[in-house]
Amino acid sequence: MNQTIIEFNNFKWHYSNNRKFRLDIQELKIRKGSFVGIIGPTGAGKTTFCYSIMGVVPHLQNGKMEGSVRIEEIETKNSSLNVLSQKVGLVVQNPLSQMSGAGLNVEEEIAFGLENHGYSRQEMIKKVKKIIELIGLKEYARRSPFELSGGQQQKVAIASILVLEPEILVLDEPTGYLDPLSTDMIFTLVKELKKQGKTIIFVSHKFEYLNELCDEIILINKGKIIKKGAPTEIFSDISLLSKNNLGAMDVTNLFARLKKAGKWKKRFAVSVEESEKELRSEFPWMR
Ligand SMILES: Nc1ncnc2c1ncn2[C@@H]1O[C@H](COP(=O)(O)OP(=O)(O)O)[C@@H](O)[C@H]1O
Ligand SMILES: [Mg+2]
Repeated sequence: MNQTIIEFNNFKWHYSNNRKFRLDIQELKIRKGSFVGIIGPTGAGKTTFCYSIMGVVPHLQNGKMEGSVRIEEIETKNSSLNVLSQKVGLVVQNPLSQMSGAGLNVEEEIAFGLENHGYSRQEMIKKVKKIIELIGLKEYARRSPFELSGGQQQKVAIASILVLEPEILVLDEPTGYLDPLSTDMIFTLVKELKKQGKTIIFVSHKFEYLNELCDEIILINKGKIIKKGAPTEIFSDISLLSKNNLGAMDVTNLFARLKKAGKWKKRFAVSVEESEKELRSEFPWMR
């Protein structure tokens, strides 16, 4: 499981109409099957980073690229988006923007992506059925995607991408528009996909979830990787987060306040469970 699936080398990108911003990634390797969380403030370059994995940068954007991004043996700049889309799938914030609108119902919408890849009708039906079951959309299969809740629509969007069986799934703030219940649904789904061995790149501000699911967190700001590390290491570092215009989790902030009051010297907890354990051991009267 130590195989590299995504590799950046001396990569630089700037949009031709934007002199201020440059994405600059000297060296980055992402392991096959790992679940990587991407965090950073607005404008940091998270979406551009996702585009660079997908090949949207440089193929569909105007700008200048240096260095390379490799997806296994494929170098993105020398490959076509059609080939790359079978390796990498991208889910964006707004599920509606990802709907083709060509399908009358969920089944057809999911099948749409397959049509451009030359599968027989029978193969298509089989693949769509499998993915609908996997994602838990069975009862919605014959409904119009436009009648569904935001969470269900995002599931349809994810299904239309997964049906192509990409090895890498890149999700760029996919729960940004969703309510807490739908958000939970999406994170539960990606947790399942991780178990199946997919490599997942997940951009989000939902630190609680990232902390639970990720093997590694990459903090991006001003187009650069500021820090890469274990979720507990990154999320407990309140000063690192605040220096990069990010707020820590409520539970972590509690420990910072305890420290300020002279009542805490240990590391800050990054989950409710951890905090309960730490607090009980430190303050026995809490039992
Ligand atoms: N197509 C584009 N052309 C020019 N500048 C862009 C384009 N897309 C994004 N930018 C700029 O690049 C920077 C990084 O944007 P982005 O990758 O979307 O950041 P994030 O996703 O972290 O908010 C921002 O300053 C943004 O305004
Ligand atoms: Mg973005």
